[in-house]
Amino acid sequence: MIVDVQERDGTGIAFEPATELVPADERARLLIDPGFGRVFTDHMAIIEYDEQNGWHDARITARQPFTMDPASPVLHYAQEIFEGMKAYRRPNGGAALFRPDANARRFAKSAIRMAMPPLPEEMFLESVRALVSTDREWIPETEAGSLYLRPFMIANGSFLGMRSSTRFIYAVIASSVGAYFKNDSASVSLWVTREYVRAAPGGTGEAKCGGNYAGSLVAQAEAIRRGCDQVVFLDAVERRWVEELGGMNVFFVFDDGSIQTPPLDGTILHGVTRDSLLRLARDMGLTVREEPYSIDQWKADAESGRLTEAFACGTAAVVTPIGRVKEADGEFSIGGQSSGPLTLRLRSALVDIQRGSAPDPYGWIQQID
Ligand code: COI
Repeated sequence: MIVDVQERDGTGIAFEPATELVPADERARLLIDPGFGRVFTDHMAIIEYDEQNGWHDARITARQPFTMDPASPVLHYAQEIFEGMKAYRRPNGGAALFRPDANARRFAKSAIRMAMPPLPEEMFLESVRALVSTDREWIPETEAGSLYLRPFMIANGSFLGMRSSTRFIYAVIASSVGAYFKNDSASVSLWVTREYVRAAPGGTGEAKCGGNYAGSLVAQAEAIRRGCDQVVFLDAVERRWVEELGGMNVFFVFDDGSIQTPPLDGTILHGVTRDSLLRLARDMGLTVREEPYSIDQWKADAESGRLTEAFACGTAAVVTPIGRVKEADGEFSIGGQSSGPLTLRLRSALVDIQRGSAPDPYGWIQQID
C-alpha cells in the first residue's frame, strides 16, 4: 500500500514510503543471523522503460510483487540481467557503497549484450543510493554483515515473437546478508564438472544475465550431491582450462608468492572483486598473472606443493579459501585446507577498505549521506 508521494531531494526519484514497515524488534531479530538472500528490506527502487518515453517514472516504493502479462518476454526468452553489490555500515555510523560505478558500467554492458536499453549510469547510481538511504536500518551490525543490493532489468510486454522487447522494468531490491557460505569449515570444496559448460566463445558468459546462472544450476546441484560446496567450470572448447565457479571467480597462489587468475576472454564474468584484488595484489608488489590455468596443472601443482593456496571471490563470496577439489576419478587438497596467509592478507586489505577500517587510496568507497 502506497501513500504520500514525495520528491526525493533533487534526484528525480519519487518517494512512495511503504505504509507497513517491518517493526523494529522483528527487524532486529532478522538481522542477528540473516544468512544470504533470505531477508529483504521494506522498499525497492523501480524505473520503467518504453520506446516512447525512454527511462521514466523512477521511484522508491514499498517492496511488492510485480504484476506481469504471461506473455512477457522475460518469462519465455530470459531477457534479463542483474548486478550484485553491497552497502556497508561505516565506523562513523553512515553507510557506504563499494565501487558502484563499476557495477553501473557492467550493467550497461550486459544490457547491450542482451539487446536491452542500457540504463544511464547516473540513474543506476541514484536508484541504488536512494534505496540504501531509505532502508539503511537494514544493514546488519554483525562483523560479516552488509546490505546486498540486487539491481536487475527484465523485459515485459505481451508478445511471443523473437525480437527484443520494447518495454522493460529496472528494479533494485535489497537483502540483509551475512556470509554466503554457511558451511562452518575454514574452506570450501569444489566439484569439477566434465559434463556441463557455463559459457562458450561468442556466448553470453561475460554478461551478468540470469540465463548463465540458470544453466549452471544442474552442475551446482551435482556438486552438492557429490558433497561439495561449488561447481568449477572448464572452457567449452578444450574442456581443459579453469574458467570460473558457479557464481564467483577463482584465484591461485604459488609458492614463489605469485598469484594467477584466468584471463577475461569473453566467457568469464568481469568480477568487481576480482578486479579489486588484482589491483591490491599489484600494489603489494606481488607478481600477478591473468593467464589460463589447466585443471591438470592445478592438480599437479597442488600435489607437488607449488600451489599453496586457492580462493574463490565475488561480491557475495568476498574471498573464500578453497580447500579441496573433487573429480569423478579422485580428489586433491590444497595447502592445509584452511585460509593461507596470502588469501588472508588480500581478504583483509579488501574488507578493511570496504568496512572503513583502512583508508581508501583508490576512491572505491562512495559514502551515503
Ligand atoms: C554476486 O556475487 O553478487 C553474485 O551475483 C553471485 C551470486 C551467485 C550470488
